[in-house]
Amino acid sequence: MNVDGKHYRTIWLDSPGCVRIIDQARLPHEFALLDLRTPDEMAAAIRNMNLRGAGLIGCAAAWGMYLAAVEDTDLPAAAARIQATRPTAKNLEWALERMQKALATCTPANRVETARREAQAITDEDADFSRRMGQHGLELIREIAVRKSGQPVNVLTHCNAGWLAFVDYGTALAPVYAAFDAGIPVHVWVDETRPRNQGAALTAWELGHHRVPHTLIPDNAGGHLMQHGLVDIVFVGCDRCTAAGDVANKIGTYLKALAARDNGVPFYAVLPSSTIDWSIEDGVREIVIEERGAEEVRTVTGWNDAAGKVATVRICPEGTPAANYGFDVTPARLVTGILTERGLAPATPEGLRALYADLHP
Ligand code: MRU
Repeated sequence: MNVDGKHYRTIWLDSPGCVRIIDQARLPHEFALLDLRTPDEMAAAIRNMNLRGAGLIGCAAAWGMYLAAVEDTDLPAAAARIQATRPTAKNLEWALERMQKALATCTPANRVETARREAQAITDEDADFSRRMGQHGLELIREIAVRKSGQPVNVLTHCNAGWLAFVDYGTALAPVYAAFDAGIPVHVWVDETRPRNQGAALTAWELGHHRVPHTLIPDNAGGHLMQHGLVDIVFVGCDRCTAAGDVANKIGTYLKALAARDNGVPFYAVLPSSTIDWSIEDGVREIVIEERGAEEVRTVTGWNDAAGKVATVRICPEGTPAANYGFDVTPARLVTGILTERGLAPATPEGLRALYADLHP
């Protein structure tokens, strides 16, 4: 994606032993880059959400293993520390497994180069898969645009499953960018996504930079908009999808799926195959949901115009007990379809397996 006329990915190898990322903790108020030189710096960046989003934390984990190889440290121990940062996204463990498999068979002399090559392959594949998901999703938007005879197609999305959540293009927003670039009129309802406000801070920022029309809404507004025919389609990302098509995504996604079902609005989860956990079927029971600190719920962080800087303020009585579940699970029965790099699958065990029969016969 372009930022002020320059093409960026969210993560790249800047020089030997130095991985550079866009520091998402500073967006939207400041566009800054952050250099990471050790696996523990990478683990801290994932934990502190300097980078986030399922696909991107998978790539970050891969680059973390490259940095572990450069540091010549104990690779399984480094993988365990990176794995411990965030539990819900499948992509993180998928990338660590793939890196460890590649590193298991190489000689010590080849370790750094093998790790570099595999991390770069994972990163390039991520961008390519996102581009493909965009092309498949474009057709869904085009169908609606034809039906609406040129009126803008209203997409609702939750959290940030765009370019910033992957290496490029994103998942839920990839079809939006593809449609916009193809000249189809689109408009995006952007859920603010409390408590960390990834929608307000990141989705609004990246859609704005791409000049895609969008409107920020409070998290509770989606049902009302759907009742009034103002949402044509919902696209969300996913952190872990079961073999049966249950999808874990940012907390609040499930409520959007319920509202979509009640109002006959199609609800699609957009995810690459690296997000599918073929070992589980019951998402509500089996997916580990990250719980984060209560301070994120008790406070809001944003730009203070009067002070001219970012500030964090408390929004509840001091010491109010708060719970902060990071994700929820939308059962497959509420998912209209799962859009992957290979195309659209019904959210069923048979549908997903048919699409990936060569990998999971
Ligand atoms: O806590 P975050 O910001 O990492 O959560 C991100 C999401 O929930 C995305 O929707 C999800 O990762 C799918 S898109 C990569």
